[in-house]
Amino acid sequence: MALNLKSLLFVSLFIALMAAPIAEAQLGLISGLLGLIRIQGTVFCTSNGNMGVNGSATPVFPNALVQLQCGAGNVVSSATTNGSGVFSIVLDPLQFILSSLLTNCNLVVNTPLSNCNSKLPSVGGLLSSLQFIGNTLLGLLNVANIVPSGFQFLDG
Ligand SMILES: *[C@@H]1O[C@H](CO)[C@@H](O)[C@H](O)[C@H]1NC(C)=O
Ligand SMILES: *[C@@H]1O[C@H](CO)[C@@H](O)[C@H](O)[C@H]1NC(C)=O
Repeated sequence: MALNLKSLLFVSLFIALMAAPIAEAQLGLISGLLGLIRIQGTVFCTSNGNMGVNGSATPVFPNALVQLQCGAGNVVSSATTNGSGVFSIVLDPLQFILSSLLTNCNLVVNTPLSNCNSKLPSVGGLLSSLQFIGNTLLGLLNVANIVPSGFQFLDG
């Protein structure tokens, strides 16, 4: 009745074989050990944080703290936007499951919009769900690219 090494190995192999095709089927992922998850986007200095009618001429929101919040608002990671309004959060795929990131996590910006434009609100924040846009190969690294699906303004 004791769980011996052979049966343990068999069970592990079985789980590995079962788990891989499910993850791949869900997101078309080449799930390798050499990989990372990158969440990247631009926060714009507009009333909803998105690019405005002026397209790429829309002013950006530098020095904004972008938090990755999962579940009931747990801050899992964060990054600050640079001078171009760009933030980048890199996650280890062994610690995060892509599908649960997409369904369970949001990007939240609590830095007041008035910091980049005094005419914008000084309370409230921005929130966006996440969208997977595909994998890119960076040398031997498989990078799963995630972007904000679109920010919305939330009243404080
Ligand atoms: C778009 O650009 C024009 C010309 O610079 C400016 O007058 C206008 O306010 C801009 N619109 C928005 C929504 O930023
Ligand atoms: C901000 O980061 C992006 C992406 O890494 C980069 O392309 C851009 O040049 C950076 N801008 C500044 C002002 O550092």
